[in-house]
Amino acid sequence: MTTKQENISEISQQLEQFKNVRTQTLELVKTLEKDDFVVQTAAFMSPPKWHLGHVSWFYEVIMNKIDQKYEFYSQEFSKVLNSYYQAFGEPHEKAKRGILSRPTVDETLQYFNIINKRVEDFLKKSQINKNEIYLFKMAFNHECQHQELLVYDLQHLLASTYRPVKQNTPPKLSQIEKKSIKISGGIYEMGYNGSDFSYDIELPEHKVYLNQYSIDVFPVTNADYLKFVEDGGYENFRFWLADGWDVVKKNNWKAPMYWEKENENWLRHDFRGKQKLHPNEPVCNVSYYEADAYCKWAKKRLPTEAEWEKASCWNEDKQIKTIYPWGNDHPTKNHANLLESYLWSPAEIGSYPLGKSHYGLHQMVGDVWEWTSSEFAGYPGFKSGFAEYNDKWFANQKVLRGSSFATPKYSIRNSYRNFFKLDERWMFAGFRCVEDI
Ligand SMILES: [Fe+2]
Repeated sequence: MTTKQENISEISQQLEQFKNVRTQTLELVKTLEKDDFVVQTAAFMSPPKWHLGHVSWFYEVIMNKIDQKYEFYSQEFSKVLNSYYQAFGEPHEKAKRGILSRPTVDETLQYFNIINKRVEDFLKKSQINKNEIYLFKMAFNHECQHQELLVYDLQHLLASTYRPVKQNTPPKLSQIEKKSIKISGGIYEMGYNGSDFSYDIELPEHKVYLNQYSIDVFPVTNADYLKFVEDGGYENFRFWLADGWDVVKKNNWKAPMYWEKENENWLRHDFRGKQKLHPNEPVCNVSYYEADAYCKWAKKRLPTEAEWEKASCWNEDKQIKTIYPWGNDHPTKNHANLLESYLWSPAEIGSYPLGKSHYGLHQMVGDVWEWTSSEFAGYPGFKSGFAEYNDKWFANQKVLRGSSFATPKYSIRNSYRNFFKLDERWMFAGFRCVEDI
């Protein structure tokens, strides 16, 4: 049983966390012009205004779940800001978020502040129990997910026109030696085993059997991937899954998203502008189909998510799993390239020697999400923790592990399971290869 004192300290911690998350969201849009908030440049992205409203609305969903007497701020806002929760009525179509001039930017920002006040009052007034604290933590994690989506969308919307509030220079490089590391086979217990927050899809911890395998120390780089492109990778059906080949032809793909060819040189257009490819940065903005085709061309394969997780967090000497690749210490700018590193791009391989895993793998978290070959589905014994959040997506998506340079540090851990459709590539996704031995 928790004492009243423990309850007060838990609530003040969550209030603090709430303020941090909300401040970070506003910081991402602080330098935008008003016009930037409304524009939707593609069906897969959302206008910044929509993200601000939606993350706020989600707190209303949580407060309503805890207290059925809670009244939503506005029916009209709820309709527009509902992403895909059928339980709250028919949501406004995602591809048409950019046609809405109401609520206005000012009204959305006002709503953002009204919700801040409501959440603070709610947390202060209520006798919150453990489950309810979990729901608020989930809403903070949800907002972190949208901060990251917002960064993907800002790259699509503005690229180098975006002016970050903070920007740091990349870390100094250490010596790199590209190699792969052998991981022993046998029974491995995958899933979250910590005592803080995890999503329902990271549970329950369960045993899987792995054959031994070897996994690359670094993710695939732009230079590696360029060889595939220049070897006619996008012109040869033999490397592609049938569905992938259809996508390549239909969309006339010749290279990863944001690559452009000018005078025989491949350039990449991102927050830094249009620049020559940085050969030693992890390849970014590739779909599952492209990652899989590269592996086939390289006579390797993608890891399963169990292989990825073991390589990232298993300490062979101590026979324990850790929360992050380097151990259980919270991430700092010396461990990984995350949102709070403020680099606004992947960092070169070898940039984070202090963040390597017990097996010696670099950049398992930060820089780019890594595609795995695993279908996104519930673990054996899965129980849904929140209707319509994760489990209604258990079809036709693949799991990505790790995190990217846009992931807030609050929301990362080795057991985190991200998921996207096989042809999606506007998110910051790359991959690393494994081989059977
Ligand atoms: Fe959402």
